[in-house]
Amino acid sequence: MPHTPRGRRAPRPLTLAAAGALVASATVALPQFTPDASAATTLRGYADARGVRIGAAVADGPLRTESAYTTVLNREFNSVTAENAMKWDALEPSRNSYNWAAADRLVNHAAAHNQGVRGHTLVWHSQLPSWLANGNFSASELNTILKKHIDTTVGRYKGKIYSWDVVNEAFNEDGSMRNSVWQSKLGTGYIANALRWAHAADPSARLYINDYNIEADNAKSDGLYNLARQLLAQGVPLQGIGFQAHFVVGQLPASMKANLKRFSDLGLEVSITELDVRIPLPASSAELAQQSADYKTASENCLGVPRCAGVTVWGITDKHSWVPGTFNGYGAALPYNESYGAKPAYTGLSNGLNPQA
Ligand code: XIL
Repeated sequence: MPHTPRGRRAPRPLTLAAAGALVASATVALPQFTPDASAATTLRGYADARGVRIGAAVADGPLRTESAYTTVLNREFNSVTAENAMKWDALEPSRNSYNWAAADRLVNHAAAHNQGVRGHTLVWHSQLPSWLANGNFSASELNTILKKHIDTTVGRYKGKIYSWDVVNEAFNEDGSMRNSVWQSKLGTGYIANALRWAHAADPSARLYINDYNIEADNAKSDGLYNLARQLLAQGVPLQGIGFQAHFVVGQLPASMKANLKRFSDLGLEVSITELDVRIPLPASSAELAQQSADYKTASENCLGVPRCAGVTVWGITDKHSWVPGTFNGYGAALPYNESYGAKPAYTGLSNGLNPQA
């Protein structure tokens, strides 16, 4: 339990002007939501107290079948992201034939538990349905297909999604544009178009460009920074940058906070959208302690920057993490272990969210 240290003077009451400034800046910077005041010492309790989001990527299987999963999800998180259910291959497996069941389930779950939803993701080179990936469409057909996808998906959840990852992983490591089907057929203009279409479909959603390996000040984040500046100068509705933050234990980039700040200084929101910290297996207790420090530092690196909207972890439990299947020999990347026990990483994340810790 956090406690008030003895001997500390009671905080001075805010002047009206100061209170007004706080309200004004919160209104500009952050999506509004109703705090769940029931449990102050949970992750969501600390996040609510700061007016930020603590999110988890949610998989449809355990959401439907594991009560331990939903218990932790509902107690600890005030935001959710669909780990897969809102990707194009899940939503439109054959052309013009939609499957909204899993996405709707998550959106309904969130509404029932006072959680916000991050939409993920509209334009990506990966997890495309095969009719689209192999369709060999002309530029004009592809443009029409993309607009319809955005109109339909964003329109369906209008008012229910506070942020959308409109464009995902558009850059190469050297800062040039990834040669995706979108880039090669439509040119870089697809990004501005996607943002404009998404904004028209839901003017209240905060629209993001999301990517990995952009946490450091490096060639890739420079490429994104330059594009973001251009888009803003052109009046394109871009409101945020998502830093995926798939880290290796002990390897957080030293420039992370300064790098997030330069995007925030453009007037953009910043969020950590897919945090996990993978460990070579088997994980030692020293590595679990380092992972805890990494969770704390990562969340502080975002929350210490103006306009940080929050932190999302890419899963809840090591039982259901994409890491072992993707990074050979690695695992143990999340705050809860395989039996839903809180790991040192949970404490690190909690301390990162709690300014008193
Ligand atoms: C991953 C999911 O976690 C896996 O279940 C799926 O098989 C592949 O995609 N960057 C992203 C996420 O933006 O959508 C990815 O999610 C992880 C990397």
